[in-house]
Amino acid sequence: MPDKQHVYLGVAAIVASQTMRDVMYLVERAARTSATVLITGETGTGKEIVARAIHHYSLRASRPWVDFNCAALPEHLVESELFGHEKGAFSGADSAKPGLFDLANGGTLFLDEIGELELRVQVKLLRVLDGVPYYRVGGQKKIPVDARIVAATNQNLEAAVQARRFRADLFHRLNQCQIRVPPLRERRDDIVPIAEYFLRQHAEHARFSADASRALESHSWPGNVRELRNAVIQAVVTARTYEIGVADLPPLQAPAPAHQSHAATWNWTSWRRTPYLPRCSRPAATSRKPLTCWEFRGVP
Ligand SMILES: Nc1ncnc2c1ncn2[C@@H]1O[C@H](COP(=O)(O)OP(=O)(O)O)[C@@H](O)[C@H]1O
Ligand SMILES: [Mg+2]
Repeated sequence: MPDKQHVYLGVAAIVASQTMRDVMYLVERAARTSATVLITGETGTGKEIVARAIHHYSLRASRPWVDFNCAALPEHLVESELFGHEKGAFSGADSAKPGLFDLANGGTLFLDEIGELELRVQVKLLRVLDGVPYYRVGGQKKIPVDARIVAATNQNLEAAVQARRFRADLFHRLNQCQIRVPPLRERRDDIVPIAEYFLRQHAEHARFSADASRALESHSWPGNVRELRNAVIQAVVTARTYEIGVADLPPLQAPAPAHQSHAATWNWTSWRRTPYLPRCSRPAATSRKPLTCWEFRGVP
């Protein structure tokens, strides 16, 4: 395993740039405290990987890791998912169910997209974070809490507090330690190593040409690592040789916004089309090994 590749709870993370190494240094330091950590950053930057790294480096590493996406369930189910419910607590509650706080006992509970949590659940969460034992929905027994909370958001929570969509007290409670995961365009030295990691997964002996590497490095990647992985997979599908060229990559400039002139749109389209050879043409003479037997392993 190359030394810039780490594995946190089964998920690989490439850390090559100095910027990201500095972030991981903070992660290790924060992990060894009991602080609640708020991870911020754009979508696709690797916030979940950072959360996993915090659990991995913490003293709770051998205890449960539980993750929950606060945007994944309708509001009324979030509370019973987090805190559990007793039999008959609401229609459909046919049996008692422990909550995620129960399951994460002794370990770490990762609350992703915390900005989506509705205000009523925010109040209950704040009390639990303050160490107050909680009740299951419909329950009468107090349950003590021992779960470390790590939360993540791609929202500006300060703005959400100003707009009264997020409680200020909960924000300050979560924000004991804030770790910002920078977007790829602020850590360009990570782009090619991460792209090469994805390339190795999908096409073992392939490599990027120098031009393709430069093109990858200069794109702004608004979708960050997720977008980068899609670009690599597309290139694997398109490429005809083991050397991935610029022409194999999807168009990396943002498509022209709708208000621009027709000509600008046309230019963008032609840029995309010209590099592609028609399917029926003979491949250009090349000394490079032709791409004949790639195994496409699909999206992980
Ligand atoms: N440094 C990295 N190295 C390898 N894969 C990464 C890295 N950062 C993110 N990924 C991958 O990119 C995808 C998006 O990461 P994720 O942590 O879910 O982003 P976020 O939570 O910030 O939206 C995941 O599949 C993750 O495994
Ligand atoms: Mg995420």
